Amino acid sequence: MALNNTSVPSKAHKYDPNFTQRVINATGPKATPRVRQLTASLVQHIHDFARENELTIDEWMAGLDLMNEAGRMSDDRRNESQLLSDILGLETLVDEITFKLAADAQDEPTSTAILGPFWRKDAPLKQMGDTIVSGIDEAGHRTWMHGIVTDFKTGEPIEGAVLDVWHTAPNGLYEQQDPDQPDMNLRGRFTTGKDGKYNFYCLKPVPYPIPYDGAGGRLLKALDRHPFRPAHIHFIITAPGYKPIVTQIFDSKSKYINDDSVFAVKDSLVVDFIPSQKDPKADFDLPYSFKLASYDDANKHTLAGTTEKSAAGVKL
Ligand code: BEZ
Ligand code: FE
Repeated sequence: MALNNTSVPSKAHKYDPNFTQRVINATGPKATPRVRQLTASLVQHIHDFARENELTIDEWMAGLDLMNEAGRMSDDRRNESQLLSDILGLETLVDEITFKLAADAQDEPTSTAILGPFWRKDAPLKQMGDTIVSGIDEAGHRTWMHGIVTDFKTGEPIEGAVLDVWHTAPNGLYEQQDPDQPDMNLRGRFTTGKDGKYNFYCLKPVPYPIPYDGAGGRLLKALDRHPFRPAHIHFIITAPGYKPIVTQIFDSKSKYINDDSVFAVKDSLVVDFIPSQKDPKADFDLPYSFKLASYDDANKHTLAGTTEKSAAGVKL
């Protein structure tokens, strides 16, 4: 039996005024509350979208075709559906919703930024001071990155924080996109000691185009948009008792810094690569420190309804 308890206000329109509610009410009693809520809202919005734009059958089919193409192209090396949602700004918006802090917070943890489709699990475990560059001499790009991971409230260093880092080669490709790069090139995981400090060699990244040979590219072309991202380095930082952060830091001098094709740049994540004076193994010095929120503090500041708990209600 369908439940009749999810009601979303409907706008007046000339098409069957009861149809949307009928679809929403078809949800059965075993659906979780979160699935019921999300689906009711989604149905309401897509039905409103179709009515407001008087969506034609050809346009609807073109949309399905784009999604089908994205699905066919996706595997464990490429996530084209995620790319579509990035192009439409959805991953950046979801990231903002998930990590938004109360406006009156005195100080804040490091801002988050989207994961993107190129993270790989099990990046090589490295020692502090190691390089993530495998076997290529990239003179002119060599960068010494260093800093400290602290608790944003107390300022104390965090021991046991793991920094998982990845970025593109100077040709603008991630290693899994490029048969000429060694496996796991420009990826590594570093664990902080008692002092919370980290340091490693990497490369100064370059701007690069998100993949545009598939559904994402077709969408960009239809929208008359370019595919480029400003130069950036990705991080996932985890530590026992702390809320993980997924983020990126961006080169302040990079082309596209004000025009990211996936809308991920935040001011606090924009950094200067400083020409290196002392280190013969580095062309640039890159100091950057990360601040994490303990689970207690994170829960105080995270908007209600956007925690892992609510996400756990959505298993399809
Ligand atoms: C990335 O930065 O790796 C990325 C983000 C969104 C779409 C494509 C790539
Ligand atoms: Fe990237």
